[in-house]
Amino acid sequence: MIITKKVLRNVSLTAHPLGCRQYVLDQIDWVRQHALQANNSLYAPVEKKLFPKRVLVLGGSTGYGLSSRIVSAFGGGADTLNVSFEREPSETKTATPGWYNTTAFEAEARKAGLKAESVFGDAFSNETKALTSELIKKTLGQVDLVIYSLASPLRTDPATGITYRSVLKPLGEPFTALSVDMESPLVKKATIEPAEGTQTEETVKVMGGEDWTLWIDYLLAENLLASNAMTVSYSYIGPKITYPVYREGTIGAAKEHLEQSANAITEKLAPLGGKAYVSVNKALVTRASAVIPVVPLYMALLYQVMKEKGLHEGCTEQIYRLFTDRLYADKQIETDSKGRIRLDDWEMKQDVQAEVERRWALQTEGEELKQGDLDGVRLEYEQIHGFGFPSIDYTLDVDPRVI
Ligand code: NAI
Repeated sequence: MIITKKVLRNVSLTAHPLGCRQYVLDQIDWVRQHALQANNSLYAPVEKKLFPKRVLVLGGSTGYGLSSRIVSAFGGGADTLNVSFEREPSETKTATPGWYNTTAFEAEARKAGLKAESVFGDAFSNETKALTSELIKKTLGQVDLVIYSLASPLRTDPATGITYRSVLKPLGEPFTALSVDMESPLVKKATIEPAEGTQTEETVKVMGGEDWTLWIDYLLAENLLASNAMTVSYSYIGPKITYPVYREGTIGAAKEHLEQSANAITEKLAPLGGKAYVSVNKALVTRASAVIPVVPLYMALLYQVMKEKGLHEGCTEQIYRLFTDRLYADKQIETDSKGRIRLDDWEMKQDVQAEVERRWALQTEGEELKQGDLDGVRLEYEQIHGFGFPSIDYTLDVDPRVI
């Protein structure tokens, strides 16, 4: 079939197998090149002896989780396991990008002599935790690092069977701000109604630290965490302009919970000499972030400003810096006063934010976005679904089941 991109309300319905493969190969190349090079003031070479050798990534098929897997494997030579939620392809329907990415990644990892396996299932369920434990026992023995990078709209609590839904809403009052989406260059006004009833608690249930804690409890009980094992989860803070819908909204409440969970998990890992961290990452186009109102407009301005300053990074550059400059560098791990790793340090630089604010004030409802990189944001969004690669002829017939 000829696979074209189809987007509905900022959500892409299709993915291209060859493009997803290209996306993964490009990230692998970048990591391989940087892992060996010296004298780059922005990205240090990999200290292989410090890197983890057995890594479990929860949500390792797209976005920050996929990059964590790529950096572990092709930076440090780690064997990796992924747990993610995917739709497989059929003769007439494309798979999720995560399925194509995982298939491509695992083929490359095996070519490089590395173990690479996945459990496709609901990471929140007891069944998936049990299957993953069995796979760890069979393939790796134990793990040195657990990355928790799930982003999901819903979660069924395995203890009660109740399903909770996460929402991206402000608290207390409606929030109105300028926004753009993936389908039009025009700036529009978006109003988001505040959370109602139990929506905040539900969002915390889905995106807070409860499931992260359950995973660590499970792995500890099964003796699957190696001594000095670390676990890392990802959070976001961002600028004041997005506070009402992000940091001070329902998702912010969940991120606060996630950040507090890191302290409790660290106590559980203390007997092993292990530690839990939250890393606050940069705003980037991923399948999860593209649907947050206001955020694509902020990202378009941020991308342009950071590109002009030579500071723009994608998921892989961010995670490479997390591993080489924070988690596995020959120095103490640098954190803020709340114990969080700050990979958003370049995004939050005072001069970057001042310039984004200046450009935000230039925007007018109904007009095209000014001085922003909407094309760059759109291209990244296309590429995470396997579209927009000049090397691929999208008019050719491809079998969606073959990669
Ligand atoms: P993403 O949508 O690219 O990746 C989410 C992953 O979770 C995918 O592998 C998906 O298959 C998996 N997943 C979702 N539901 C699942 C389930 N029930 N069972 C198993 N796997 C499931 O998202 P992204 O953006 O990489 O987010 C990962 C983390 O990074 C989130 O905690 C997010 O808040 C955080 N973050 C994202 C930022 C951004 O701008 N994208 C910025 C800072 C933090």
